[in-house]
Amino acid sequence: MKLFTSIAVLGLALLTGLQLVLGAPTTSLKASTTPCKTPRHTSTQKQTHTHTNTHTSKPLKTKSAKTKDTKTARTMSATSTASGCPAPTVPLGGGGPFATVQGRMFQIQSKTQFFAGTNSWWLSQLQSNSDVNNVFSELALTQFKVTRVWGFSDINSVATNTNPVYFQVLNSTGQYFNCDQTTGIGRLDYVVSTAEAKGVKIVMPLLNNYGDLGGIPAYTTAFGGNSTSFYTDATSQAAYKNYVQFIVNRYKISPAIFAWELANEPRCSQCPSSVITNWATSISAYIKSLDSKHMVALGDEGWFDSASIGDGSYAYSGYEGVDFVKNLAIPTLDYGTFHCYPDQWGYNNTWPNEWIEQHDAVGKAAGKPVVFEEYGSTNTANHSILMVPWQQTVLHNTSVAYDSFWQFGTSPLSINPFDDYAIYYNTTPGSDYEVLAYQHAAAMLAKNPVANQ
Ligand SMILES: *[C@@H]1O[C@H](CO)[C@@H](O)[C@H](O)[C@H]1NC(C)=O
Ligand SMILES: *[C@@H]1O[C@H](CO)[C@@H](O)[C@H](O)[C@H]1NC(C)=O
Ligand SMILES: *[C@@H]1O[C@H](CO)[C@@H](O)[C@H](O)[C@H]1NC(C)=O
Ligand SMILES: *[C@@H]1O[C@H](CO)[C@@H](O)[C@H](O)[C@H]1NC(C)=O
Ligand SMILES: *[C@@H]1O[C@H](CO)[C@@H](O)[C@H](O)[C@H]1NC(C)=O
Repeated sequence: MKLFTSIAVLGLALLTGLQLVLGAPTTSLKASTTPCKTPRHTSTQKQTHTHTNTHTSKPLKTKSAKTKDTKTARTMSATSTASGCPAPTVPLGGGGPFATVQGRMFQIQSKTQFFAGTNSWWLSQLQSNSDVNNVFSELALTQFKVTRVWGFSDINSVATNTNPVYFQVLNSTGQYFNCDQTTGIGRLDYVVSTAEAKGVKIVMPLLNNYGDLGGIPAYTTAFGGNSTSFYTDATSQAAYKNYVQFIVNRYKISPAIFAWELANEPRCSQCPSSVITNWATSISAYIKSLDSKHMVALGDEGWFDSASIGDGSYAYSGYEGVDFVKNLAIPTLDYGTFHCYPDQWGYNNTWPNEWIEQHDAVGKAAGKPVVFEEYGSTNTANHSILMVPWQQTVLHNTSVAYDSFWQFGTSPLSINPFDDYAIYYNTTPGSDYEVLAYQHAAAMLAKNPVANQ
């Protein structure tokens, strides 16, 4: 999901713990004059798309801001410090066994079961421990087993930063990790530690396709290239892998990590799908070399690029450079992910049922779990009316291992990260949350694993 809201920043944090990780490039370059950040989308404006094979207007979720491709690739001096930041000061490494693949399902908390989860990307941006505690308590009460939290927050300049919390600075002189307890990696430490204590696991993407919290635009602003050359650009890839190493090494002892994800919704628009397949093959193998215990997934939207699936319209056209079938065959990816926003992609509201069944069928053929990882409706008056049928398809017509709607909402936090998709925590019978979260989570847990394999 591309974010449509700005995070309200409450104050400028003092920078105390920034650590240079990759040193100055071998050639001296002037400081970047390109904008440090791409503008955030501030509206929830919808855009309608008709089904065409050659999309001329890009869907809303496509990054529209351009970065100039004025710099040539250069080599970092590779003075990477393996340690990155001082060790976490919160307890890490508890919370039961690691989640694993069992056939087309997952074993979680020592049980092979279907389950439900949600998305709360902003947990790593919260600076209040009690906010983090409250959110995890609500997730646990709902019987959610997983939530998805952004494991990145990249900026280009401390002076112009608007993220409450950031984990690295990328600029023309190098890559710097923010080791600070209140504005930096200390916040992600707290989220992972709390997840362990509350028994809710985290799916952690390590990069954003979009400019929200930095993402690929933060890399290309600092190191040159663009949204498509990023995947093969030596400098950007060296920095990205170094960030992956920093995070994976820090939390690889934690059973609270459900899986690492290469990115949130990676796209290489109008590229051959081999670009992302090659990248996913290489990066997933790299993560496995650092951490053989955790699962790894791509974090993509599940686009098809096969003549045999679908009607050739946008989601089936390979337009975004992603081939779900080929990527699911990558041995170092443990399961497949897919998302669904019919209102943004130009489809009607019953089409998601087909989309869910198509991914389940591909998962069945590949013998791997598939996860319906993001889906949502902006019908704020009644989210359930559209989303219940999709959940029923997951429950009754497929072996989708788990599903997690976009996105979890809760009472006011120190920031306001919520959009029209947010479903606010509520225990009142018949409320959107009670139906889509409480009831659905219980139904998924009650689903018979054997009958549905
Ligand atoms: C890059 O960011 C680091 C950390 O904030 C800073 O020390 C350095 O001066 C920056 N380099 C440029 C060229 O702005
Ligand atoms: C990115 O740069 C490459 C090579 O310079 C170019 O072929 C490609 O069209 C660019 N992509 C975008 C999205 O601008
Ligand atoms: C919804 O879209 C699907 C797939 O594009 C199509 O088969 C179906 O007829 C549509 N349903 C309605 C009610 O328009
Ligand atoms: C799902 O299964 C139910 C009952 O088995 C069936 O009536 C329904 O048509 C199926 N839905 C889809 C979208 O295939
Ligand atoms: C949403 O609409 C359905 C169908 O009309 C109704 O049963 C349900 O109570 C509504 N939910 C809310 C939260 O208004």
